Amino acid sequence: MRDTINVKNPATGETVKEVSVTSSSHIKKAIEQGNEAFKTWSKVNAHQRSALLKEWSAKIKSETEYLAEVMTLESGKPLKESRGEVAYAASYIDWYAEEAKRVYGRTIPSHTESKRIIVTKEPVGLVAAITPWNFPAAMMTRKAAPALAVGCTFIVKPAEETPLTTMKLVSLAHEAGIPEDVVQCVNGYGEDIGPIFTDSPLVRKITFTGSTPVGKLLMKNSAATMKHVSMELGGHAPLIVAKDADIDFAVNQVLASKFRNAGQTCICANRVLVHEDIAKVFSEQLISRVAQLNVGNGLDESTDVGPVINAAGYEKIDSQIEDAVGKGARVLYGHQYDKDEEKGYYFVHPTVLENVGEEMDIMQEETFGPVIPLSTFRENDQAVEIANNTPFGLAAYFFTNDYRNGIYFQEHLKFGILGWNDGAPSAAHAPFGGMKESGIGREGGPEGIEPYVETKYLSIGGIQ
Ligand code: SIN
Repeated sequence: MRDTINVKNPATGETVKEVSVTSSSHIKKAIEQGNEAFKTWSKVNAHQRSALLKEWSAKIKSETEYLAEVMTLESGKPLKESRGEVAYAASYIDWYAEEAKRVYGRTIPSHTESKRIIVTKEPVGLVAAITPWNFPAAMMTRKAAPALAVGCTFIVKPAEETPLTTMKLVSLAHEAGIPEDVVQCVNGYGEDIGPIFTDSPLVRKITFTGSTPVGKLLMKNSAATMKHVSMELGGHAPLIVAKDADIDFAVNQVLASKFRNAGQTCICANRVLVHEDIAKVFSEQLISRVAQLNVGNGLDESTDVGPVINAAGYEKIDSQIEDAVGKGARVLYGHQYDKDEEKGYYFVHPTVLENVGEEMDIMQEETFGPVIPLSTFRENDQAVEIANNTPFGLAAYFFTNDYRNGIYFQEHLKFGILGWNDGAPSAAHAPFGGMKESGIGREGGPEGIEPYVETKYLSIGGIQ
């Protein structure tokens, strides 16, 4: 096991901080402590847990500027987006602080006078979370808040690229009065910590946001101890622009979806399918707007698009563009890089490609970069067929002002999250998650609490 993590600023390649890796014996101890703490935390009444969560959220909000700066330094995302993510992260805690008081059971009318049937909900136990670098705050709180709300204890392993935001969130939870063994952070590399989590019978649930191959491995390794699993995995979102769409509005929403975090989000539009009658005017408007985006260091307030996370991220984007161009796609805008391999920073300028076909890698694999591949369709069923032609099923978008088109897309697209005239559907009160190889389970809303509870059924007999 390596001893340290060198947290680097993706905008400069400079070291932000060296973080110690938690030794395997310490991780095992943290698991034991979390399991022990479950005995008391699960008995704290729901109103008290709710009050502690509210206090945690208040502390996070009061540290917005500090957290946003740390997040930008380690992830590269523009400061304005980091501030937005702090608010988004706190909104999950606020939502689940309320839901803590609404974990209802039920009584079921009995089939005989001598029995009563009662159903209760109980926390699953100790939860281990593995969180991603693209949303280091919100993906942690989206898991921790429902877990703590119902009475589970929680250990998080943040992405090795971005541990600093999470470490601060955990220390704020302790300052808010949540006991140290109830929420813990361990640092290290996924391939070392993942097996410690999955092998331990004390960990009753694994929750993960990240790639589909890693999600599959975690699920496989969780089978031996029959853990609960929630998996929020990769996506390949289609965005359909129908002939009757408001083009100006659709262009705005494409920008919001595609360039958030430099295209490094699981739900961002990965393929844009435009009705052939409006394709020319749509692409002209799109390019004029893309040309206004500022690329630069996220600490600069005027930056719209920051760097991509690392060399591997850059290489994947570059190879998808090269593959598409090699197979006949045309570059309408961009295809420009600003990088220094020695220093270790990679900026990919917003790029628009047209004449993109399904045989190209970019139409099949998640890009995680600021690239818009444009393709056209004639009939709605053709658009749906192209859109559904992916093993992923996380998010899809469609733009139309004709309710018949809208209902057709809503009923035929096989994705867990749909945006109808909406490129930014995420919200703490709504269920986020995917179908097919995009994962299992939902986060956010009342659905987001279910994965942290067990159902217990009591049958009382012998009643006179
Ligand atoms: C993600 O990319 O996984 C999260 C995006 C969101 O919550 O909006």
